[in-house]
Amino acid sequence: MTRHVRTAIFPVAGLGTRFLPATKATPKELLPVLDTPLIQYAVDEARHAGIERMIFVSHPSKAAIERHVMEDARLTRELRARGKENAAEALSEAALCPIEDDVRFVMQNEPKGLGHAVGCAKDHVLPGPVAVILPDDLILGPVGCLTEMVKAYEAGKAGHLVATMEVSEDRVHRYGVLSVTGKDGPIVLADGMVEKPKAEDAPSRQAVVGRYILDASIFEALETQTSGAGGEIQLTDAIARGATSLGLGGFQFSGTRFDCGSKAGMLEATLELAMEDPDCLAVLKERGLVEQRPAVAA
Ligand code: G1P
Repeated sequence: MTRHVRTAIFPVAGLGTRFLPATKATPKELLPVLDTPLIQYAVDEARHAGIERMIFVSHPSKAAIERHVMEDARLTRELRARGKENAAEALSEAALCPIEDDVRFVMQNEPKGLGHAVGCAKDHVLPGPVAVILPDDLILGPVGCLTEMVKAYEAGKAGHLVATMEVSEDRVHRYGVLSVTGKDGPIVLADGMVEKPKAEDAPSRQAVVGRYILDASIFEALETQTSGAGGEIQLTDAIARGATSLGLGGFQFSGTRFDCGSKAGMLEATLELAMEDPDCLAVLKERGLVEQRPAVAA
């Protein structure tokens, strides 16, 4: 059985209620961190990881996502005609091409949960394991999280590999949490996973964040998955059912994760990237938000 990861699924159908009113007319995946929408970071991460097919599980009300990720030949032409060659080039490089790139859009018409969303991609995946990327979990670092995970997955044995990080006890109720049995390098071994447990019921503090590499049998598991936490079809529950037979690993990624589905997380991510942008850094310094270093005498 191949362990080569060729497909990435982006569940982007959610209503974004945590970010209203910003998400009333704009999909949350198009909210920018500085000048780049969340979905762009996710697409770039998948590209760097060598993903061949990208499947967006979207909603009819969120057509703007497709407009953003796909090439806009008219806009590029218009920019070139106005002498804005650099902007045209940058946009066209970031975009997916309908001819050269393998992209699918599938609609999830009803909000039945993350597990249901992933299941909607079933008929479109390439053979082998599939990656799932939740764009509102932004992970920044020198190496893309999915790139690291693909490498670990291909070298390892676990059927399902999920990105994990340790969180404090008062935060476990926000996440899928692993039932940890041991450790193997950067991989936490687990025999189960619970969606949004109360602190007192949580099997560990290893929280799952939005990157998954899943054995292809996940689609069968999702077909028979009954609703769980919040009355939704949970991806966590379907993963947990295969944990002992397929093997479940938690991958401790090297980057920093920002919860861009929340205001605080979005602000943190914005500040992180602002520090790398000279104009933004100058503003932060002026406002005393970053230490002003005295000029070094020549
Ligand atoms: C989803 C998953 C949860 C995971 C989280 C990571 O929850 O269901 O297991 O820990 O993403 O961000 P959501 O945040 O969509 O409620």
